[in-house]
Amino acid sequence: MKTRITEMLGIEHPIIQGGMHFVGFAELAAAVSNAGGLGIITGLTQGTPEKLAAEIARCRTMTDKPFGVNITFLPTLTPPDYPGLFQAIIDGGVKVVETAGNNPQQWMPMLKEAGIKVIHKCTAVRHALKAQAIGCDAVSVDGFECGGHPGEDDIPNFILLPRAADELSIPFVASGGMADARSLVAALAMGADGMNMGTRFIATKEAPVHENVKKAIVAASELDTRLVMRPLRNTERVMNNAAVERLLEKEKALGADLKFEDIIDEVAGVYPKIMLNGDMDIGAWSCGMVAGLVYDIPTVKELIDRIMSEADGIIHKRLNGLY
Ligand SMILES: Cc1cc2nc3c(=O)[nH]c(=O)nc-3n(C[C@H](O)[C@H](O)[C@H](O)COP(=O)(O)O)c2cc1C
Repeated sequence: MKTRITEMLGIEHPIIQGGMHFVGFAELAAAVSNAGGLGIITGLTQGTPEKLAAEIARCRTMTDKPFGVNITFLPTLTPPDYPGLFQAIIDGGVKVVETAGNNPQQWMPMLKEAGIKVIHKCTAVRHALKAQAIGCDAVSVDGFECGGHPGEDDIPNFILLPRAADELSIPFVASGGMADARSLVAALAMGADGMNMGTRFIATKEAPVHENVKKAIVAASELDTRLVMRPLRNTERVMNNAAVERLLEKEKALGADLKFEDIIDEVAGVYPKIMLNGDMDIGAWSCGMVAGLVYDIPTVKELIDRIMSEADGIIHKRLNGLY
């Protein structure tokens, strides 16, 4: 399948694996790229430019296909070494960067100079238009369904994607709630040039996370996520568990007085314990509603091949057959 995204990124299938904290290591990025999609290493999980450079080099030993790096801009008082991280990306010869959290305007000259394609992930049409205006090559449009940070507008993809198509001239991929061939064909029908998946890629053989995480996603239904940190205007969609219920009780009790410090035990530093040790109730971890559509733990290649062959069936048999 050829779309503006496959052409722009030099990939076979219009499927991207979004950056995921403590999931997007070289193993997963390489598996997605080897299967014909675009795999993405999560920059901030590595933390320092030296470690990111090493992870990029490790990924190169696993694939000769293009892969990207995600850089997330966090609202923190002590920011990571962003200039160093971007330099590591450039020096590592990576040609695609996924940015998120805030617009990447400040870094655009440096990235463009290095010939890097910038895909900005955003949750609102106005942010997508801003990304287009500052020279981003593409956007990843994240609907309210998504795992992680859906923003504060709560617009689901059935509205957000056609709205993005109506406004944007640069290519965009649909993100949030994407799981299978139906997601891909629907996203294309609504004007997107491909899809970005997070949660679905965690439940694959190559995702280098604890089996408990994969099993939790397979066991979950579409009713099992919760929105946390809404009072802080830093909303995150997470898998429900004991820590999340505790956190939501605190949010209810403290109302508008809630501060980040009140919930620090449930959200800070929990990712390695969950993703690497499988300690599932220790804190809040991002997960999309799409968990309800995840029934198995295939290899990445099996997943992507299945999506592409079923998409062919939907387009050529089911849809064509309606005429
Ligand atoms: C466990 C997990 C961790 C994530 N970490 C990040 C991150 O560090 N940076 C980022 O930009 N997006 C992050 N995301 C969001 C994904 O890249 C993607 O946009 C989202 O998962 C799409 O929604 P879906 O889960 O319904 O596919 C994360 C998502 C999950 C599930």
